[in-house]
Amino acid sequence: MHTAINGITLAYSDSGRGFPIVFLHAFPLNRTMWAQQESALSSQFRIITIDLRGHGDSDAPLWHYTIEQATDDVRALLDHLAIRQAVFVGLSMGGYILLAFYRKYSDRVKGMVLADTRAQADTVEGKAGRFQMAQIAYQQGSSAIADIMIPKLLSPATIQTRPEIVQQVRTMIEGNQMSGIVGDLMAMAERPDSVPLLKQIACPTQIIVGELDHATPPSDAKLMADQIADARLALIANAAHLANIEQPETFNQIIAEFSRKLVSADRL
Ligand code: MLT
Repeated sequence: MHTAINGITLAYSDSGRGFPIVFLHAFPLNRTMWAQQESALSSQFRIITIDLRGHGDSDAPLWHYTIEQATDDVRALLDHLAIRQAVFVGLSMGGYILLAFYRKYSDRVKGMVLADTRAQADTVEGKAGRFQMAQIAYQQGSSAIADIMIPKLLSPATIQTRPEIVQQVRTMIEGNQMSGIVGDLMAMAERPDSVPLLKQIACPTQIIVGELDHATPPSDAKLMADQIADARLALIANAAHLANIEQPETFNQIIAEFSRKLVSADRL
């Protein structure tokens, strides 16, 4: 499905019935990274997955991208779908967007799942790495970005033994336009520090991290769990950064239990 929002066309999927769960994908992927969550959870919940601006089937305008602009796109889509409140799941860059969304639109958030992400802003070296990657993207194209990103996103065991997953991730990365990839890198480099926000988070929060995640390691997850008042932390074994793809059953079970509890607490 598509809709015109904030001057662009945004692509999304809306399936199932029940309390809505909105999924925000990682860099530089698209909404199909949530395929296994959509098929497993749409029997109990309304599942919304979004191609963020610059990704997948959404427009990728050649202009300045910000994390805050992504939050405005998400809010506009919720308005379009007449969704007042939802559970949100953000993985990595999706988590950066989710924290920014909470900062601006906390009344729309019933609960948050922060997966394989971090609250800290980029370090000086991290920002320099973004600009280097943008140069590589510009000079060598998206398949060079796939070569760099795949070892950061997936565990060595997955890379060696599950070629279909590696191909799925490569296809997502190579399907993105250069304006979107470079725009994301700028947006992530410029994002503010969300650590001061953590103590203000008042909604139930589930934190998830793959035990082999080196991109946003378990120490980053623990920092968030220590500072958010009502947070639980789940460590997923045999998963790296894309824990939802490498260990979908465990990931789905955590999301389903967390969301069911929120919805049933409402009914009491
Ligand atoms: C992601 O998976 O979204 C990225 O690894 C996030 C980042 O580069 O900070």
